[in-house]
Amino acid sequence: MEVLSIPSNYTPREDLLAGKTLLVTGAGDGIGRTAAQTFARYGATVVLLGRTVSKLEAVYDEIETTGGPKPAIIEMDLATADEQSYQNLASGLEKEFSCLDGILHNAGLLGDRRPIESADYSSWQTVMQVNVNAQFLLTRYLLPLLKESSNASIVLTSSTVGRVGRAYWGAYAVSKFATEGFMQVLAGELENTTNIRVNSLNPRATNTGMRRTAYPAETPTDNPAPADIMPAYLYLIGNDSSEVTGKAFDAR
Ligand SMILES: NC(=O)c1ccc[n+]([C@@H]2O[C@H](COP(=O)([O-])OP(=O)(O)OC[C@H]3O[C@@H](n4cnc5c(N)ncnc54)[C@H](OP(=O)(O)O)[C@@H]3O)[C@@H](O)[C@H]2O)c1
Repeated sequence: MEVLSIPSNYTPREDLLAGKTLLVTGAGDGIGRTAAQTFARYGATVVLLGRTVSKLEAVYDEIETTGGPKPAIIEMDLATADEQSYQNLASGLEKEFSCLDGILHNAGLLGDRRPIESADYSSWQTVMQVNVNAQFLLTRYLLPLLKESSNASIVLTSSTVGRVGRAYWGAYAVSKFATEGFMQVLAGELENTTNIRVNSLNPRATNTGMRRTAYPAETPTDNPAPADIMPAYLYLIGNDSSEVTGKAFDAR
């Protein structure tokens, strides 16, 4: 798989995302939290989706305090939400917003890392539900609202182990391969027919709770902070990547 980088020395305009409405999943913590704050700082109205309301409210308050456009909160546990919940979510957003200009599919679960031979099926299913099926359901029901945008971007979060398999990374690695596949299928379907582009983004090692759980022996601050990789997120979610679709990116 060819993996691209964003243009070197990419510098987003201050008003890059002004007037845009963007949905971020897993917006309460880690990379998603920083992405939501960053998108708001660049002018976007951000819809904060996550499972822990207190975390989403903290992000909401931070955005309001720093003068960003008033965000919205959607409490949703992607592990347990049924199909009807996604339909309700889409009709709720349709009432509130005239269009959706992008989705950052960021929420993710690490799950168990153990041999396939002894993997727990229930844990496997949960990882697939959050990391793969939720992306499909959200996209499936939000495409009509994305089609109302003049320039929309769907960004799917990948991983190094979703591009080259790695022993014992189980459902997580498989879910990220599925994410790359979903990106390619959807980008192919939307190419030439709409104004919606679809790309994948691998943040690579970033200092978050997930990374600290996956690599407890590391010194966390040896890895970049989420803020350090935001240029790639801004490039892909904003109009500077208008001509780019169906591609796999690394954030650095
Ligand atoms: N950090 C890295 O080094 C790295 C490397 C490669 C790829 N990634 C990918 O980058 C993305 C963000 O990871 P991160 O490192 O920021 O992880 P994180 O700190 O663990 O944050 C994950 C976010 O996803 C949310 N989430 C998890 N399960 C959910 C569910 N069932 N329903 C709704 N939201 C749920 C979490 O909500 P709560 O806060 O409520 O738990 C949290 O906000 C993931 O897709 C991950 O696979 C990360």
